[in-house]
Amino acid sequence: MSPYKFYDSVSGEEYTPDLRQWKPKAGLFTMKSYPVEFPAERIIKRQATMWRYEEALPITKEESSISLGEGMTPLIMLDHEKPNFLVKMDYLMPTGSFKDRGAAILIAKAKEMGAPSVIADSSGNAGTSIAAYCARTNIECHVYTPSSTSEKKLAQIKAHGAQLHLIPGTREETTNAAKEAVEKEGVFYASHVYNPYFYEGTKTFAFEIWEQLNFAAPDTLILPVGNGTLLLGAYIGFNDLKRAGVIQKIPKIIGVQSEYCAPIETAFREDTSVSSVENKGTKAEGIAIGYPARGNQIIEAVKNTNGTIITAPENQIDRAKKNLERKGFYVEPTTAATYAAYKNYEENIANTETVVMSLCGTGLKK
Ligand SMILES: Cc1ncc(COP(=O)(O)O)c(C=O)c1O
Repeated sequence: MSPYKFYDSVSGEEYTPDLRQWKPKAGLFTMKSYPVEFPAERIIKRQATMWRYEEALPITKEESSISLGEGMTPLIMLDHEKPNFLVKMDYLMPTGSFKDRGAAILIAKAKEMGAPSVIADSSGNAGTSIAAYCARTNIECHVYTPSSTSEKKLAQIKAHGAQLHLIPGTREETTNAAKEAVEKEGVFYASHVYNPYFYEGTKTFAFEIWEQLNFAAPDTLILPVGNGTLLLGAYIGFNDLKRAGVIQKIPKIIGVQSEYCAPIETAFREDTSVSSVENKGTKAEGIAIGYPARGNQIIEAVKNTNGTIITAPENQIDRAKKNLERKGFYVEPTTAATYAAYKNYEENIANTETVVMSLCGTGLKK
């Protein structure tokens, strides 16, 4: 019997995770917190992967054999002009994005529960990650993506042996097609949005930053937010560190949306619940989510850190991408959008603050 439980975000009812049920009766599945520890003297002797925080992961040691070496990405200064503005180079992950953190844990759990096959839906990067870890684990994988997804992402998903289902229309229509197939075929829904285990992987982003800053939290995080798998993961991770008593304060979180698809920023600004918006078309395809299922959870997390949500102006994305490239970082437009938004917001951040921005995805996929 697994010691790890989910609960319904609305009713609070507790559930034992299983292969069939991807949604509770009323709200969304959320991870029930469990005891975590961060024994620094043991952690530093382990392999340089995200699995080194094993006392804070919902997994038994055996399952980590699916690792592709993910995690412990460099945390370095962007340039010498601002030594306390740091970037976390998650685009150096095995499949080229931070999504590997979540997929590694989610597919390890799928293996643990005995899933013969999975279904995932994605704007590209999450699907690639799920496909790679399924290949590593010999689990059959079906990935649903919008037919507009970039060619290189599609090629990578296929290369890992996943069956690709191209869905015409919006990202939301892709999700609906995947959900329909999940219901019809009774297959495990390896959803980075709905399954809390995914966030148990992305939370290692926080653990690594803590270790790399010599066991301290930064003041501020600049993170892209579409469905919020990194933002919520970072929030959960820093909460774990605080709960364990190894940090005193959770960093302020600044979430970045595209100005052409900003349901969370709009709700945050207007102090309302998140409602669906039309994606007006942005180069930042990774954050173009018209209706993020965990939108209200994201707002609550950001508010709890005294953070905010800002937008990336579309006409500044290319220039931001060039600027990053000229500094040596080859990243995808979604990451450039994050940097563009930060540059407009920068004057609101004190020079003394330690700031970490995530470089989420590689430019090689575009
Ligand atoms: C490169 C990149 N950055 C950021 C994001 C946004 O992540 P999320 O939708 O979980 O907030 C994605 C999502 O696919 C992505 O691929």
